[in-house]
Amino acid sequence: MTRRILLGVCGGIAAYKAADLTSFLVQRGDEVTVIMTAEAEQFVGALTFAALTRRHVYASLWDAPESIPHISLVREADVLAVVPATANVIAKFAQGIADDLLTNAALAARIPMVVAPAMNEAMYEHPATRENIRLIESRGVTIVEPEIGFLAEREFGVGRLAAQPALVAAIDAVFERKRDLEGERVLITAGPTREAIDPVRFLSNASTGTMGIELAREALLRGGEVDLILGPTTVAPPRGARVVRVTSAQEMYEAAMARFVGADVAIASAAVADWRPNKSSLQKVKKGDGPSLLALERTPDILASLGERRSGAFLVGFAAETEKFEEYAREKLRSKHLDAIAVNDVRNAGIGFGTGDNDVVMLWGEAGRRELGRASKRTLARRLWDTLLEIRRSRA
Ligand code: CTP
Repeated sequence: MTRRILLGVCGGIAAYKAADLTSFLVQRGDEVTVIMTAEAEQFVGALTFAALTRRHVYASLWDAPESIPHISLVREADVLAVVPATANVIAKFAQGIADDLLTNAALAARIPMVVAPAMNEAMYEHPATRENIRLIESRGVTIVEPEIGFLAEREFGVGRLAAQPALVAAIDAVFERKRDLEGERVLITAGPTREAIDPVRFLSNASTGTMGIELAREALLRGGEVDLILGPTTVAPPRGARVVRVTSAQEMYEAAMARFVGADVAIASAAVADWRPNKSSLQKVKKGDGPSLLALERTPDILASLGERRSGAFLVGFAAETEKFEEYAREKLRSKHLDAIAVNDVRNAGIGFGTGDNDVVMLWGEAGRRELGRASKRTLARRLWDTLLEIRRSRA
């Protein structure tokens, strides 16, 4: 099957590298259609891409308007790759601004997007650009990070367009992604919970929900239908998930129970508070009246309750431990009636709660064990799903 790649080229020195990429893709048999921004045409001529692709090069919304190019081009492609992407175009993608053909096409795109930024280091590191990249990434766009190297300004820094193999790998990953959750319903709990002491004070923990959010994103990419029960966090959930926002363990319990019916896979990644104040005040407690001791009671164990009610769902838990990791985790695997448990060491700085990285060991059955290694939570989410589905297949 021919791969249909829509390539957006923006105005930067690296635009010439997009010609090289086009040549590579065409030679291996891909069908490449190019959209250039007006600024890109200042750097490379449309003729170059027309000759390389043997196809019309689109540069304006008013170019062949009868075909409504901003819609038809994204409908007729499998992926939209933007190489190089300037700070400006990334900002427009982030805000949904559509003021030329490429940005209109991006807004209309329901196909996967790959964006390869290239710009001066100061622009790349500007908080606005960082935030815009984070935002589009949270919506599922693949970012191909620029390299550190010699920049056009004759400075050394980060911002150089990623090398061609990295660009090709990111495009290929779109085609290689397995759709192995097609038609399945996935339930994921994620994030911390907050247990109120009074209207302004609570007990909670340092979880940001990132691991569960990445698991939800990966499940969506694999074709699953995802219910994400999410505690208080500022990390954005992926587009396409049905998100239920909750605050307390009790609310998370109720939402999870309601959506467990009919789920094919349930993953409890939430860092649920284990205790709550046994009474919470409706009014703010004045500090003079404050208790010197806080009386606590247990919150419901959501995962254990799912384990008791399981009816065919593949059930997965997490264990955050600071000692005797695998021993404690195996105990949870048994006592909560789980199919698998992912153990992470939260003792180590730089991994686990609130960070981009994690280090996970998966345990299942009597002696099943696999180290998934230390990696970003996005990468680990992919490995976790690969492993979980493999375990499930081996049981079937
Ligand atoms: N969990 C849950 N509801 C709770 C507590 C935990 O659903 N009230 C789930 C977590 O989402 C995780 C697993 O149980 O998947 C294990 O959580 P962890 O905090 O490691 O263990 P606990 O069961 O709370 O046990 P302990 O605190 O004794 O380690």
